[in-house]
Amino acid sequence: MQTDGLIDLRSDTVTLPTDEMLEAMRHARLGDDVFREDPTVNELEEMTAEKMGKEAALLVTSGTQANLVSLMSNTKRGELVILESESHMYWYEVGGISAIAGLFPWPLKSAFGALDPDAVEAAIRPKNIHFPEPSLICVENTHNRHGGTVIAPKQLYALRTVAEAHGLRLYMDGARVFNAAVALGVNVKELTRYVDNLMFCLSKGLSCPVGSLVVGSHEFIGRARKLRKLLGGACGRLESLLHRVLLRWRR
Ligand SMILES: Cc1ncc(COP(=O)(O)O)c(C=O)c1O
Repeated sequence: MQTDGLIDLRSDTVTLPTDEMLEAMRHARLGDDVFREDPTVNELEEMTAEKMGKEAALLVTSGTQANLVSLMSNTKRGELVILESESHMYWYEVGGISAIAGLFPWPLKSAFGALDPDAVEAAIRPKNIHFPEPSLICVENTHNRHGGTVIAPKQLYALRTVAEAHGLRLYMDGARVFNAAVALGVNVKELTRYVDNLMFCLSKGLSCPVGSLVVGSHEFIGRARKLRKLLGGACGRLESLLHRVLLRWRR
């Protein structure tokens, strides 16, 4: 963000809405999203699902809420979740994975943010009365604490193979997944096709003040929608803030 000649590089989340965006918000078509009567949100969710090559999408308030809703929609309380040891979900989300979702995180170290499929396989222990049931593998693309490193389609494919072999789901915290797609020179669908579901953020680098999207199957999103309500994140008025992003995407 640029203010008074200074460029603020602390984070891509400090971007503010432009005048054009604020003007577009004033003219956004409104409705109540809880009743699914918000034309702008409905369009945004449909467009997201199409762009990501998945069945459905859900608008939530933040990346943290997107991760929490997704964790809960993918698992049952008490299950084990394999994730990268420097991941945002493990470090910066106030332990919601355990405190709210009731899950047992199993962090694995990696060199550059991409989980090693062999290490993941080794971490999936056999069924045993003493062990929590593993049910989910999480990846982060791009990887924040590893400095924006990217995970390529072939690495995701390898993780998918392990997940499928053991009946686990694969989830992607794709807060900046479009950055990964640009860096790799691929369509974003090449990064989404191997994961069961994912989230990405509108609020990072796009000047959008709020909003993330959770994307996946109808069944997964149906559960996520109810969980969003449970977490107090159902909001009928987000669309006014997001309208400009929608317009920008259409171009
Ligand atoms: C990789 C990643 N996931 C999730 C989040 C959480 O997003 P939010 O700050 O909107 O809750 C962030 C925030 O920077 C992030 O970098």
